[in-house]
Amino acid sequence: MADRHFTEAILKWYQENRRSLPWRGTTDPYPVWLSEIILQQTRIAQGQAYWERFMERFPTVRDLADASEDEVLRLWQGLGYYSRARNLHAAAKQIAAAGRFPDTLDGIRALKGVGDYTAAAIGSIAFGLPAAVVDGNVYRVLARYFGIAEPIGTPQGKRIFTARAQELLPPGQAADFNQGMMDFGALQCTPQHPDCPSCPLQRTCRAFLEGRTTMLPVKKAGPAIRQRFFTYLYIRCQGQTAFRKRPAGDIWQGLWEPLLFEGPLPEAYGNAVLLKKGVRHALTHRLIVADFYCLETTKKPSLPDGWIWMDEKMPAQLGKPRLVEHLLSLL
Ligand code: ADE
Ligand code: SF4
Repeated sequence: MADRHFTEAILKWYQENRRSLPWRGTTDPYPVWLSEIILQQTRIAQGQAYWERFMERFPTVRDLADASEDEVLRLWQGLGYYSRARNLHAAAKQIAAAGRFPDTLDGIRALKGVGDYTAAAIGSIAFGLPAAVVDGNVYRVLARYFGIAEPIGTPQGKRIFTARAQELLPPGQAADFNQGMMDFGALQCTPQHPDCPSCPLQRTCRAFLEGRTTMLPVKKAGPAIRQRFFTYLYIRCQGQTAFRKRPAGDIWQGLWEPLLFEGPLPEAYGNAVLLKKGVRHALTHRLIVADFYCLETTKKPSLPDGWIWMDEKMPAQLGKPRLVEHLLSLL
């Protein structure tokens, strides 16, 4: 069911309240794509500085494709969810090999790191394709305005909200409507304290009229967050230290770290000095709790498989998880 009043109000609200963002002045798919990958898990305030750095270092998709993975990871450092950076780099190679940016939804969706949401965002913004984006903001706005109590985060919920967003999409104005929904959810219909008193949709909003804004959207309980216990040991020996590049098959693939033990510090390193205990680092489905140690020694201990000795100045130039940055800042 199309709802002209809702759609018109979002478009009008967007005209008056849109955030001024550097990638909004263009329909060039490369900067648009880059912004959407960065914003997948990152707040706009933080993501903007990274977008600018990437655009400066890699002005074209070919520059990005030609870079080394290490350099891309290093520039990404601090943003987290590093598989995004690896996928970004792989997708740049896909695009460079094809000779042009794909301009259909299926073509965009076939890029590494691009799911339904990102494909709809890029497709509508760069090419005007009539695809509705459905992100957390959109779920929230639709659930509240239409009083939809279907839990979000289930396949059924995704179908229902996607279908509704698609019906509401105005022909020829997909880019403005999609970004209007995102900004409206981020600025007006916010998760904790929606600004209903100043909202242009207030008089027809089900959640507001029924006093249910705090009950909507309905979330289904996610999987329990599991914990991992990391012990990092920074070794200092004859101006050198031991690091490794994290292998495939686990978090932080391709990033560098000092000696790592999952669990307590082995007794063999009993004279290491504790730098910090119980440092917490939250990932999507994991909580990492880490202890940091430093061992100064004149005799090189043998290293577990994978770790290598390097000059102590090296780690500063390598891509590292934020947790390891934290450790290095304590030395
Ligand atoms: N979040 C992700 N993509 C966005 C966009 N294009 N505008 C506003 N917020 C966003
Ligand atoms: Fe959101 Fe409140 Fe506006 Fe309804 S009235 S759309 S809950 S801000």
